[in-house]
Amino acid sequence: MALLEIIKYGNPILRQEAKAIKEINNEIKTLASDMIQTMQAAEGIGLAAPQVAQSIALVVVDVGLISEGEKPVAFINPKVLAAEGELVMEEGCLSVPDVREEVVRPEKIHVTYQTIDGKTIDTWYDGLLARVLQHEVDHLKGIFFVDRISTIKKKRIKRELKRIAHDELERIYQAA
Ligand code: NI
Repeated sequence: MALLEIIKYGNPILRQEAKAIKEINNEIKTLASDMIQTMQAAEGIGLAAPQVAQSIALVVVDVGLISEGEKPVAFINPKVLAAEGELVMEEGCLSVPDVREEVVRPEKIHVTYQTIDGKTIDTWYDGLLARVLQHEVDHLKGIFFVDRISTIKKKRIKRELKRIAHDELERIYQAA
C-alpha cells in the first residue's frame, strides 16, 4: 500500500476524459487500495483516479460515512444512467483545497458500475452516496464541482482558483 499524490485544479490531467477499464487486473486492484488509503489519509469521502494522475474510470467512496460499519468501496466504470429530483448540498474537493460551495445536483441517481471483483451492479442511490458519486463521476469527465456553481459564486472564488492552478503548474514544472 502506498500514499499517492493528489493533483490539483489547474493540472491538465484533471480536464481529460478518463478511459474505461477493460480488465480488472492486479494493477487496478492495487491502485484502488492505494486510492482508499490516500483518501482516508486526506480525510476525504471520495476520490477519482484522475486525482492521482491516472486517467481511468475508477473512483473510491468512503461508504462507511453513509452506511455505518461499511468499508470504502471501489466503483469501476461508473455511469449515471438516469437522475431524479434536485438537492442543494455543500461540496469540497481534495483537488480544490479550501474551497467549499453549494452545488445543485439530482437527488437520486440510477447507476451502473463494476465491483473490484468484476460484478456488475445496477442500482439507484440517494443521499450522500448519490452526491459523492456524482461528484466523482464528474472527475472522470474532466468536470469540477466549481464548474457547476453560478457565475456570481465562481467570480467570488476566481482568485482562489487562480492561486491553486498557479501553485499546481509551478509544482509540475519543478518536478519535470
Ligand atoms: Ni473532487
